[in-house]
Amino acid sequence: MVEETKVTTDDLIFPLFLVDGHNQKIEVSSMPGIYRLSTDMMLKEIEGCLKVGIRAFDIFPAVEDQHKDATATKSYDPKFFYLKALREIKKQFPEACIMTDVAMDPYSSDGHDGLVRDGKILNDETLEILGKMTLAQAETGIDIIGPSDMMDGRVGYLRKVLDENGFTEVSIMSYTAKYASGFYNPFRDALDSAPKFGDKKTYQMNPANRTEALIEAQLDLEEGADFLMVKPALAYLDIIRLLKDNFNLPIAAYNVSGEYSMVKAAAQKGWLDGERVMKESLLSIKRAGADVILTYFAKEFALNLNR
Ligand code: PBG
Repeated sequence: MVEETKVTTDDLIFPLFLVDGHNQKIEVSSMPGIYRLSTDMMLKEIEGCLKVGIRAFDIFPAVEDQHKDATATKSYDPKFFYLKALREIKKQFPEACIMTDVAMDPYSSDGHDGLVRDGKILNDETLEILGKMTLAQAETGIDIIGPSDMMDGRVGYLRKVLDENGFTEVSIMSYTAKYASGFYNPFRDALDSAPKFGDKKTYQMNPANRTEALIEAQLDLEEGADFLMVKPALAYLDIIRLLKDNFNLPIAAYNVSGEYSMVKAAAQKGWLDGERVMKESLLSIKRAGADVILTYFAKEFALNLNR
């Protein structure tokens, strides 16, 4: 009766990895229970999730090297498998909330989120590419775009691109406080998208910084973001609370790949009770102030509830 916090399936977004082809279901070795799925298999997965109350999905493409280039050309090619799949998913499940990823890294031969020249990431030149990518994704009928690239000014730029093209109803979940973190490695395995040189510290945030998250959030608010996201979640619960206390937009937290893998690895060794730690982790993220949680545990959590 006096319990203050409850996590429900309504709070969760399930990130999914898409691959080209048919009948593909390939486990990500560093993320037990998480698969790269071809469109047909992903449709089945989404159908299964909807039945247990998971209704929102964030879909990432795993792109073969031969399709990667310096300017992420495939990211806005309407015939590319990612965009074709999104169209198919929204056609079959219009009731599912579909979020897409806006960043160059899955399609970039440099493995960076922005355009690279002479070893530097070019902020403003990247915006143009992100704009084309956003428009191509919006045209498939998706509901939320998720700019995970961390270029300055991209929320305002993308909002304008969307509005000018009639996509006023597509929301933006901004990766507001995305830290340059060691917890993303399993995700980079899943997409085969690790940077080819250097790191992402010139565009992602310094884990030491808190006040800077307020600046990022203020800018995103002014530029038209519909959600503010903190990423990773568990090592940044203070940042989630900080944004929750200072902004009235919905706050999202991304319980990232490394946070998932740590629990899975320890549970496999019998060192932790995986289910218990999963629930405790999600509860902590919500208690810290997250309204929405992106988590690889989404389906497992839902199945666990229904058992
Ligand atoms: C990159 C992107 C990353 C994640 C989501 N989008 C990794 C990175 O910044 O290198 C990480 C998600 C996770 O670890 O689960 N645009």
